[in-house]
Amino acid sequence: MRALILFDSKSFGGSTDKLIDSIGLKLAEAGAYVEKARCKSRGDYSFVKDFDIVIMGAPIYYLMVSSELMGSLLQSNLKNCLQGKKIALFLSCGSPELMANMLYLPQLKLNLIGSTILVEKIFAPNQLTDQSIIANYVDELIVAYKKES
Ligand SMILES: Cc1cc2nc3c(=O)[nH]c(=O)nc-3n(C[C@H](O)[C@H](O)[C@H](O)COP(=O)(O)O)c2cc1C
Repeated sequence: MRALILFDSKSFGGSTDKLIDSIGLKLAEAGAYVEKARCKSRGDYSFVKDFDIVIMGAPIYYLMVSSELMGSLLQSNLKNCLQGKKIALFLSCGSPELMANMLYLPQLKLNLIGSTILVEKIFAPNQLTDQSIIANYVDELIVAYKKES
């Protein structure tokens, strides 16, 4: 499995960086080839075609999914390049999971109608560094990937 972690964050070395490093490590331990790339809203996403699965996510700032990821979905060729790809979603945020599920996940999912979303997960503050929760997300992702393949 060739996995791309496509992410955005306003911070460097912050909670999202640490989260994706943990996700990447667990995927690699399970035998996946993993690369990560930071979103640019007007980037060229042609390279996405080289991957079997795209794990996509970002933090929430001021009620919105971080702008370079949203911008990529709205302004670049990302949406086209994701056609036919298997996708996993994650968000890091300061809100409880239930509220985040209602307010934030739809911002991404409305832009991914027609895509195969294997798993989705809100990482609330107390979960961002919880290795067992992260491992669970990765395990669910791998099971769903195998089922769809
Ligand atoms: C300026 C700012 C605004 C934020 N706004 C929200 C928000 O509206 N809703 C929310 O659930 N979390 C909010 N958060 C919490 C972040 O989403 C959360 O801390 C996230 O893990 C930060 O990721 P980062 O460390 O990669 O920047 C905000 C954080 C910051 C710094």
